[in-house]
Amino acid sequence: MEITIDRTPLAELETDALVLTVFEAGNGHLPALPEAAQPLAGAWLAGLVETGEFKGKTFDSVTLHQPGTARARRIVVMGAGKQDRFNPNAARKLAGAALRSLKPRGYKRIALVLPDTCAGAGFVTAAVEGAILADYNPDAYQTDKKEVQVVERFSVAGASAPDEAAETGRIIAEAQNFTRGLANEPGNRLTPSGMASAAQKMAAEFGLECEVLDRGLMQDLGMGALLGVAQGSDEPPFLIVLRYRPRNPLEGTHLGLVGKGVTFDTGGISIKPSEGMEKMRYDMSGGAAVIGALRAIAQLKPRVTVTGIIPAVENMPGARAQRPGDIVTSLSGKTIEVLNTDAEGRLILADALTYAKRLGCTHLVDAATLTGAIVVALAHIHIGLFTNHQEFGSRVLEAGRAEGETCWQMPLDEEYREYLESSFADIANIGGRWGGAITAAVFLKEFAGETPWTHLDIAGTAWNEEADPWLAKGPTGVPLRAFCRLALDWK
Ligand code: BES
Ligand code: ZN
Ligand code: ZN
Repeated sequence: MEITIDRTPLAELETDALVLTVFEAGNGHLPALPEAAQPLAGAWLAGLVETGEFKGKTFDSVTLHQPGTARARRIVVMGAGKQDRFNPNAARKLAGAALRSLKPRGYKRIALVLPDTCAGAGFVTAAVEGAILADYNPDAYQTDKKEVQVVERFSVAGASAPDEAAETGRIIAEAQNFTRGLANEPGNRLTPSGMASAAQKMAAEFGLECEVLDRGLMQDLGMGALLGVAQGSDEPPFLIVLRYRPRNPLEGTHLGLVGKGVTFDTGGISIKPSEGMEKMRYDMSGGAAVIGALRAIAQLKPRVTVTGIIPAVENMPGARAQRPGDIVTSLSGKTIEVLNTDAEGRLILADALTYAKRLGCTHLVDAATLTGAIVVALAHIHIGLFTNHQEFGSRVLEAGRAEGETCWQMPLDEEYREYLESSFADIANIGGRWGGAITAAVFLKEFAGETPWTHLDIAGTAWNEEADPWLAKGPTGVPLRAFCRLALDWK
């Protein structure tokens, strides 16, 4: 899909659908068109408003076929909801909903006109993202349902923003769709080695350094926690390292993005119930988001040095699998009693976090589909955020808020540490029954140590359980935009 900012006068613009956004009535005003579109459809809209057929509610839409007033084949008026609630996050959804409703009608060219007061760079970037994200469907393996409708061009019209605003949105959303594509791959098609090759290929294409540590190297280093998880599978584990080095780097800080890459999580010997196990192919969503974020960062070129670290393993109950009660020695030197082999994400992340510190990262953010408990706590709405450094955690919180990948901060007090006491090793890999998302985070904190670190539990948010008007069912690609924003706004 080609993306443009179209500066042609609206009446002259050649497109299949010219989408005009309109706020809901409020503060004494009726739903009204963007100023420049008034001559095109103002009278028509006024009639619809008068009869109550159109109220401007979010995603409400009416279509004018063969408008005599414009070159466009159709004019679509779409509600943007209440004006005071409209921000770039709403614009992203609006553009997405427009694309997802118009694409099945066979429109090949779509032009979106944002409300007059909301056409600046931030809004344009978000609208472009919304359209590209909405264009993605996880149907790669449906041979008979292949999409026949293709949108060839999406443009933002009547906006004052520079081309760069659209370009930024394109880079980020294409990276997020790349992440979604990886997360959507089933366990038989994307193994740890497949994830490593995908990262290498991406790195070669976008000029990043990529280093892949194999089992032998990890054994030499002493990554016992990661290797213990991997040993039940015939698929060899890999630790993927992606490096972005800016030309003119900010001195003194180095951001490490760490992502859980369990390409399939059966639970291991502590095997999961069969019902719902098929979903565990998205247990590498954090890792996929890190690979995608580096893809965008390589093009957006922030001034902070960024390293992506993705431990990629498959958690299987093979003959060589680790058993409950096994004690492993992590890269940090700490010993871990593996009381439940299904709590594997924290084990591989423990070694990845330690390794990230060895690579010189001064700030760490990890993303992981870590616990079912975070879904119990926050459902599918917010990412669970935990931090050992409030100032840094707040920056991540803000990046997520700005990007519509909202996080909710959870506690991480010292008091929780006792739940992880082990009688035989330095720490156990599970706590008791309660507060499962917190005890998982407390476990990771032990390995982050003194380094400012923020953990994002995306188990409830990495997968869209049901299609939204603006986004297909399936992988969401979170928290890729938050990662990019954090890097771009780095100080
Ligand atoms: N990958 C799962 C967490 C998960 C659950 C992700 C549901 C997405 C949806 C993780 O490895 C896991 O199995 N966690 C266990 C931890 C428990 C054994 C302490 C869990 O949440 O049940
Ligand atoms: Zn598990
Ligand atoms: Zn898992």
